Amino acid sequence: MNTLEAIRSRRSVRTFNGAALSPEDGKKILDFAETAENPYGLPITWKILDARKHGLNSPVIVGTDTYIAGKMSRVPHAEEAFGYSFEKIVLFSEAHGVGTTWIAGTMNREAFEQAMEVSAEEVMPCVSPLGYPAERMSLRETMMRKGVKADSRFEFEELFFDGSFDKPLTKDGAGKLFDALDAVRLAPSAVNKQPWRCVCREDKVHFYEKRSKGYVSENGWDIQRIDMGIALCHFELAAAESGIGVSFELKDPALPLPDDMQYIASWEVKR
Ligand SMILES: Cc1cc2nc3c(=O)[nH]c(=O)nc-3n(C[C@H](O)[C@H](O)[C@H](O)COP(=O)(O)O)c2cc1C
Repeated sequence: MNTLEAIRSRRSVRTFNGAALSPEDGKKILDFAETAENPYGLPITWKILDARKHGLNSPVIVGTDTYIAGKMSRVPHAEEAFGYSFEKIVLFSEAHGVGTTWIAGTMNREAFEQAMEVSAEEVMPCVSPLGYPAERMSLRETMMRKGVKADSRFEFEELFFDGSFDKPLTKDGAGKLFDALDAVRLAPSAVNKQPWRCVCREDKVHFYEKRSKGYVSENGWDIQRIDMGIALCHFELAAAESGIGVSFELKDPALPLPDDMQYIASWEVKR
């Protein structure tokens, strides 16, 4: 399975078949995680955790006792960097037949943070179960998916713009960037809010966060920036698969913006 196929086939898996994660799969995923860098150059420590040993649980997950979690210093851009690196691990797992679900909220966080030995200067943004998908979803999983309309995404023209925010980009207009942008569209996000918006302008694709109310905590931590990191990851991986080289840039082009939009980062498309 190539990356684009993994992006298209991935879904959150909350019902697992009860089989333990094989030591080989666990090792493969952890080895890969240790190489999963991000364009912000921020290091992340990964661990695979045994839920029974550490008393971990998530009320939405059944049929596996294995989780992966990551921790890092609480520094600027931690959210995007974590989103980027963790999504690489999610896609690697998907390509190897291992199911995952991004979990930021529905877990006994204190127990996870203890198992990860998170210090006061560190943050453990999200965890994911690892295991083999069951043939049928639990009723709770089916209901959850309905609740957040997990199988639907915004239309292409609602997310991507041609030169400025007042001109939607058509699928045809996207040209060779179509697959990379469509990979952004399909990304997972917290409560399926899909906060990413992109303006394609000259040889750059500028990424913006369309903030939903109530997702930034009092200390400034913004969970939707994790979604933005996921979007940046999908774009780069899918572009590479289309034979398109891109380079990362943090340089706000200062375009006129709708009120709720914030600049995040850009990919420069190489000729
Ligand atoms: C940053 C982030 C946090 C999430 N937190 C949770 C969570 O706490 N519990 C949960 O069941 N799903 C969580 N999800 C999964 C989303 O609900 C899911 O990705 C979205 O509904 C789209 O469905 P899909 O992943 O099947 O495509 C989270 C996803 C992201 C990206």
